[in-house]
Amino acid sequence: MTFRIGLIGYGGIGRVHALAYRSIPFYYALPNDAIQVAAVATTRAETAEVAAREIGCESWTADYRELLAREDIDAIDCCTPNDSHEEVLVAAARAGKHIYCDKPLSMGIADGQRIVAAAREAKILGGMTFNVRFYPAMQRAKQLMQEGFVGRIFSFRGRYYRSSYIDPLKPTSWRLSKERSGGGALLDLGAHVLDLLYYLLGDFASVQATLDTLIKERPAAAGSSERIPVDVDDIALLHARTADGTLGLVEISRMGTGKTNELIVEIFGEKGSIRFDATDPGWLEVYDVRDPDKPMGGMRGVRRIETGGRYEGARAPDWTMAPDFVRSHAECQYQFYKAVSAGHSPVPSLEDGLHIQAVIAAAERSSQEERWVRVDEVMSAFP
Ligand SMILES: NC(=O)c1ccc[n+]([C@@H]2O[C@H](COP(=O)([O-])OP(=O)(O)OC[C@H]3O[C@@H](n4cnc5c(N)ncnc54)[C@H](O)[C@@H]3O)[C@@H](O)[C@H]2O)c1
Repeated sequence: MTFRIGLIGYGGIGRVHALAYRSIPFYYALPNDAIQVAAVATTRAETAEVAAREIGCESWTADYRELLAREDIDAIDCCTPNDSHEEVLVAAARAGKHIYCDKPLSMGIADGQRIVAAAREAKILGGMTFNVRFYPAMQRAKQLMQEGFVGRIFSFRGRYYRSSYIDPLKPTSWRLSKERSGGGALLDLGAHVLDLLYYLLGDFASVQATLDTLIKERPAAAGSSERIPVDVDDIALLHARTADGTLGLVEISRMGTGKTNELIVEIFGEKGSIRFDATDPGWLEVYDVRDPDKPMGGMRGVRRIETGGRYEGARAPDWTMAPDFVRSHAECQYQFYKAVSAGHSPVPSLEDGLHIQAVIAAAERSSQEERWVRVDEVMSAFP
């Protein structure tokens, strides 16, 4: 039976989602039509038609509600800018469609809560695209954490640096407007790094953060002399505590000159440490205090564990081939497909997305009010 997806949004990431869906049957030796993008929606008929031709799907529309009205669509994949997530996802849930939402879940807490409530009420299944979890090295890190490899956890550190906004002449876009994005670097990049730490360590309890906007206005369009104010952060520095009291640091910046796409998480514990670097996703660095420590002949030191492209159950390519960004998306989608097909809630779930949203909202409030903010303070209205 074919699992049929209605893809909503075909910009930078919509195209990657379409490519990743198509690749899944090859990785897992599934029939070619096991998973299919059945239709695509954008905001304009012309772009939707081009998208449909690229994807090879039979229909397109400039009105996503047409996809929701179709009986033959099982799930909606939301790849639109953040300001339309609530409208699209609540309507999809009410239409009885399962939901796959690329991060972040929403603009803020209130709309995120309404999405989760609509999904629960409609009894549909909802998953998030937190694709970075699905690099094999990250999966190995999770396994080691579950096995107690690091022992008592001392602290953690995460950072996501990109240099994507260092040019002051880069024009404004939806990502630079609070009204359209809901937030800046913290929301856009922070969602990924916070999710990795949450995946390894569990719930966050509180944060103390400082956010800053380094370039306060940008051209309205390429070459334009009109300047538009930027009202979201370019950089966010967080102290954070997890529910079990562990303290850590999280740094997020899109003004990291020289850092094209550097996403690193580290966990330090009494027995060992773990370091994942998304630019080197086939390897995990570990340090094991149990290794012999003798002068001249000791074996202590940082080791690189080779994880390569070890995906459980994958038939191709063989594991010695390094994974990449599209493969991480394919795996996130495959786990969503398997969970929904079996009638289980996908992991990461919409609730996981809401927790990350709450950490971000707490960090924003912390920066405004210059104090530590508990995550349950911003979530208190929600059961
Ligand atoms: N997980 C990742 O690796 C990753 C990477 C990039 C973006 N994202 C997320 O994906 C989402 C989209 O980002 P992007 O960079 O692809 O944006 P984009 O601006 O490149 O593309 C947005 C697309 O959505 C369409 N769209 C907008 N409003 C719509 C509506 N109401 N109905 C139908 N289509 C609509 C546009 O026509 C366009 O095709 C964001 O939430 C972003 O945070 C995730």
